[in-house]
Amino acid sequence: MTIILAIESSCDETACAVIEDGCRILSNVVSSQIDVHTKFGGVVPEVASRIHVENISAVIAEGIEQSGCSMEEIDAIAYTQGPGLVGSLHVGVQAAKTLAWMYHKPIIPIHHLTGHIYANRFVRELKYPLMALVVSGGHTELVWMKNDWDFNVIGTTTDDAIGEAYDKVARVLGLGYPGGPAIDKLAKEGKPHYTLPVPKTQNDFDFSFSGLKTAVLQLADREKRKGNEVDPADLAWCFQETALGGLVKKTVQAVKEYHPAMLVLAGGVAANSRLRVMIEEEMKEVPETELIIPPLKYCTDNAAMIGASAYVAWQHGLFGTLDAAADPGLEMPCEETDCS
Ligand code: KG4
Ligand code: ZN
Repeated sequence: MTIILAIESSCDETACAVIEDGCRILSNVVSSQIDVHTKFGGVVPEVASRIHVENISAVIAEGIEQSGCSMEEIDAIAYTQGPGLVGSLHVGVQAAKTLAWMYHKPIIPIHHLTGHIYANRFVRELKYPLMALVVSGGHTELVWMKNDWDFNVIGTTTDDAIGEAYDKVARVLGLGYPGGPAIDKLAKEGKPHYTLPVPKTQNDFDFSFSGLKTAVLQLADREKRKGNEVDPADLAWCFQETALGGLVKKTVQAVKEYHPAMLVLAGGVAANSRLRVMIEEEMKEVPETELIIPPLKYCTDNAAMIGASAYVAWQHGLFGTLDAAADPGLEMPCEETDCS
C-alpha cells in the first residue's frame, strides 16, 4: 500500500489530497478562488498567488485531517511542478518541499496534464494503448499513450486553448468568468440561427480556436452595426456547436486511426455537458474503444488527480529533489527524457 499526499496550486484552486495506491481517495480538499477572480473578469495572477499563500497551510491541514492518516503513514509528497502560473505554482512547490524536508519523505514533481489524464483512474483501471483528449483553460491536446507514463502529443492547438476561447467568448456575451459553465448553460436555450466558420489547421489532429473567437466578436459587431440585437443564447449555441464539432470529429478520427483500447476525457472543458453527449454519441461508431468521461469534480483542477499521477511516477521511480523549482512552461514527460 502506497499513500501519497498531493498538492495542486497551478492556477486558481488551492488543493490537497491524500491518495492510496493511486485510485482510492482518502481526502480531496479544493479551495476555489473563483469568487474573487469573477470580480476582475478573469484570473489575476498576482491575486491568485497571494490567496494561495493565505490558504495553503489550512488546505493541507484539512487534507491530512480528513484522510485520517498521520504523517508517518504518508509515503511521499507530490506537487504540481507546471505548467501554470509561476506565482501560483511556487506556493505549492514550497509547501511540498517544506513537508518533504520536515518529515523526510521522497518528493514527486508532477506535470499538471498527466494529473488530468490519470484522474480517469478514479473511474476504473486504465487500459493501453490509450488516447486522451485533454481540454482545459490552458491546453487542448490529443495525447497517445502506448503504455503507462508514455505521453506522445499527436495534436495540439495552434493558437488558443479551447477553455480560453470559451472564457473570451463569454466575456463578449457579457457572461463573466469562468465562461465555460456559463456558455454551457446558456447554449441549452439557443437555436441554430447564426453561422460561424469551421476552424482549419494544416495537421489533421491539431486544433485552432482563435479565428472562431474573432468570428464571434465580428458577428456581434456586425449585428450591432445593422441595428440588430444579438441573441446571446443563439450565439453561445453556435460557438459551442462549431468549437465542439471540430474537436469531437478530430478526436474520433484519431481513435479510428490509432485504435486505442480506451479514450479518456480530461480537463475542465470535459465538464461540458454538450461535449459529453457528443463524444458518447460519436464513439458509438467505434465500440471496440472504451470511453471514460470522468465525473465533473475530477475534470476541473484538484489534487486527487495529482496523487493518481504521482502513484504511477512512484512506480517508475521518478522522484524529484529539494532544489527543484516551479516550471510554468513544463513539457509533458516522454519516453526519451524520464521514462524507464
Ligand atoms: O482544467 P481546468 O480546471 O484548469 C486548467 O488547467 O486550465 O480548466 C478550466 C477551464 C476554464 O477555461 C473553464 O471555462 C472551463 O475549463 N470549463 C468549461 C466548463 N467547466 C469549466 N468549459 C466548458 N463547459 C464547462 N461546463
Ligand atoms: Zn487543469
